[in-house]
Amino acid sequence: MRPKISIIGAGMVGAQAAYVAAGKELGDIVLVDVVEGVPQGKGLDLYEATPLFDVDVNVIGSNDYASIKGSDVVIVTAGVPRKSGMSRDELLSINAKIVSDISKQIVTYAPKCILIIVTNPLDAMVYVAKKVTKFPRERVFGMAGVLDSTRFRTFIADELKVSVEDVTAFVLGGHGDTMVPLARYSTVAGIPITELIPKNRLDQIIDRVRNGGGEIVNLLKTGSAFYAPGAAVIEMAEAVLKDKKRVLPCSVFLEGEYGVKELPIGVPVKLGAKGMEQVMEITLNAEEKKLFQKTVDAVKNLIHDTDKIM
Ligand code: NAI
Ligand code: 2OP
Repeated sequence: MRPKISIIGAGMVGAQAAYVAAGKELGDIVLVDVVEGVPQGKGLDLYEATPLFDVDVNVIGSNDYASIKGSDVVIVTAGVPRKSGMSRDELLSINAKIVSDISKQIVTYAPKCILIIVTNPLDAMVYVAKKVTKFPRERVFGMAGVLDSTRFRTFIADELKVSVEDVTAFVLGGHGDTMVPLARYSTVAGIPITELIPKNRLDQIIDRVRNGGGEIVNLLKTGSAFYAPGAAVIEMAEAVLKDKKRVLPCSVFLEGEYGVKELPIGVPVKLGAKGMEQVMEITLNAEEKKLFQKTVDAVKNLIHDTDKIM
């Protein structure tokens, strides 16, 4: 039997995630959305593309959560994007309600799944999903660091005119402008980028990573990034479904690691068949610790506001 991946929210990110997952032949795919016809239409369209990819997977769309029954991995991309005039608090409360409702359905229909959250504000939505599902932290975590670090990798490769394949990059912290791109741990074929890019130029690149989401929104005007986010969440799903033991930055509940408790925050973790199998602790220097504390405080504020809503 093939693995089953359910994607809740058949919008831009959800559809792109489904496209990447089908192309990689990761398993059968179910798209679920509140809008009638959209998940069914996108699901059928993608299913009809499978002969062109030479892959044998089934893709269906549904408005009924019963169709996610038995899923190995569930990805939540449902929610509203921030619109002009909408405050952060409004976005937080609308999406917290949506993620909370969806989490209840997941507990009913896919209680054993590994749950990956994408909806923003990311770290707060991981908090909501964890509280509502009561899943252990190994089975509920969020995607942001993979996206932020792929942006970092792209900009480093472009700067040095080297292959993206040789670039690794790490970004810690919450998914927002307090995230901490870690230059010291980012390398080109093992050479720290601090040896290859002058500090003032590196600072500009790091700034661009921090504002990577906003840069796309400013260009698109009607929505936010979806190609890279969709591919990023499937990199995580693939690591789980193939038990790859990939080390990727994910938003996970910390239980004392990095001096943080009961808070989801982006750190490097090992992903395998059991989900988040290990938090990898790395040593931060004084400057990095200061930046990490700042991002932890920002996520704490976000969670505090979420607690008021829940
Ligand atoms: P979108 O608006 O294209 O898609 C959202 C979909 O969710 C829509 O199809 C909508 O009908 C559906 N939806 C709304 N309420 C629902 C419910 N209760 N049940 C099921 N479906 C529901 O938005 P897009 O661009 O796909 O983004 C989705 C979310 O992902 C947003 O919150 C966005 O900010 C976030 N995002 C997060 C990233 C990250 O790095 N964590 C990266 C990119 C986007
Ligand atoms: C991004 O970073 C919107 O969170 C999304 O592109």
